[in-house]
Amino acid sequence: VSPRRRVSARELAPLVAGWKDDRAAGYASLADRLRLLVLDGRVPVHVLLPSERELAVALGTSRTTTAAAYRLLRESGFAAAGQGAGTWTELPGSRSPGPTGDPWPVQSSGIAGTPDGRGDLASAAPEAPPQVHAAYTAALAELPRFLPGHGYVSAGLPLLRARVAERFAARGLATSPDQVLVTSGAMHGLRLVLEALLSPGDRVLVESPSYPLALDAVRKAGGRPVPLPLEDAGWDVRAVAAAVRETGARVAYLMPDFQNPTGRLMDAPTRQAVAAALARAGCAVVVDETTAELDLRPAGSPPAPPPFAAFGPAPGIVTLGSASKTFWGGLRVGWVRGDAGLVRRLTLARAVDDLGSPLVEQLATAHLLGEIDAVLAERIPALVARREALRSAVARHLPGWRTPVTDGGLFLWCALPTPSSTAFTVAARRIDIVLTPGPRFGLDGAFESRMRLPYARPASELEAAVARLGPIWRGLTGDAGLAEDDLLVV
Ligand SMILES: Cc1ncc(COP(=O)(O)O)c(C=O)c1O
Repeated sequence: VSPRRRVSARELAPLVAGWKDDRAAGYASLADRLRLLVLDGRVPVHVLLPSERELAVALGTSRTTTAAAYRLLRESGFAAAGQGAGTWTELPGSRSPGPTGDPWPVQSSGIAGTPDGRGDLASAAPEAPPQVHAAYTAALAELPRFLPGHGYVSAGLPLLRARVAERFAARGLATSPDQVLVTSGAMHGLRLVLEALLSPGDRVLVESPSYPLALDAVRKAGGRPVPLPLEDAGWDVRAVAAAVRETGARVAYLMPDFQNPTGRLMDAPTRQAVAAALARAGCAVVVDETTAELDLRPAGSPPAPPPFAAFGPAPGIVTLGSASKTFWGGLRVGWVRGDAGLVRRLTLARAVDDLGSPLVEQLATAHLLGEIDAVLAERIPALVARREALRSAVARHLPGWRTPVTDGGLFLWCALPTPSSTAFTVAARRIDIVLTPGPRFGLDGAFESRMRLPYARPASELEAAVARLGPIWRGLTGDAGLAEDDLLVV
């Protein structure tokens, strides 16, 4: 490997801020911070790190410390070095799956059981409901009909495109099947759309905080994300208009239902005003509706507004959807809704990715969309119960944390009493709990006082994990005393 990109000491220093405050030895703490940056993608793999001396100067520490940190990184497989070529980031080879005792697992096993409170508190993806297995069985029974054909359906199986269009119509947005492109997940849809809309250097308005992989996708497509701060109350129309005017953004990436990570829902008048402001500025909108079906508001709330695209000029708004959160992530089925011309363009463009999504998965998803009401009738009350279990576990074990109630989606955007999100994430890794630190959701290191906690797992698992996190938090904040509850879990 000869890394072509480099990260400067000046860029790296703010990303490891706070490393000296950890209780671990300085070099070990610095290595932990660097590992976290590689794992969550803020420093990509195969990027040249600054020299030990440059980093030491930028961090106000000794070269012995940075050299020892780099050595630890190399020993754990997160960096490599060549004679005269410097040190660059790497990923260790694949490790054994599951709760491994390895505090820095690189891969998810896809099997998420954490009954003893270990494992993944970073992914916001629930298990499959029983209908998923039944849908695959039905899909297999239908498969023989398709086997004599060549099996490539680049724009998507007609039946599935029709079902997706019907669902948009049921939510208040008339849609025809030729306005729907089936993709391999919403993430794939986002990549295709950004590639089609962006030129290198274009500014892209993103909510702050936003979905980390979307920020990565914007950068990968050559765009420059610019933040649109979300207030406690949500979107501020004047701030949207000002941001688009001041930055000249060509594209906005929004999650009106339900925002990741805040869980907020944009109301209808705000949709109307935001769509108008962006249309006036000639700014296209990419609306990510991955969690749109997970409406957790109390019974008696007004109906959710129609999809954002119902509020604006059709060609300017592209919508992404997914089967991942409504049904199951393992389906890897999503969709793009736009005007038919864009769908044709994207269909041609996606050929170099995969030539089309797998047939059985599409058939299964078509079945599931036919049963969506039954699936949601179980899934939504279950998620509400998990959310409340998580909130009360946080209240018991993580003193000073605030957990605002969400409108929908799969996570709490917790407010911490101190800016310790990264330090807490690093400490949690040592007890086999994987968290995503607040700054991963922002630009330029914002959100050190925030932590996203998903409530996608059963309540017992969430409670066990948070109970194990309690002593870690108190250790970090100096209050190392054991609470009564901790005795129950050790
Ligand atoms: C806002 C948002 N977009 C996209 C995705 C990824 O969706 P998919 O699994 O369909 O690729 C997620 C998953 O967490 C998400 O929260």
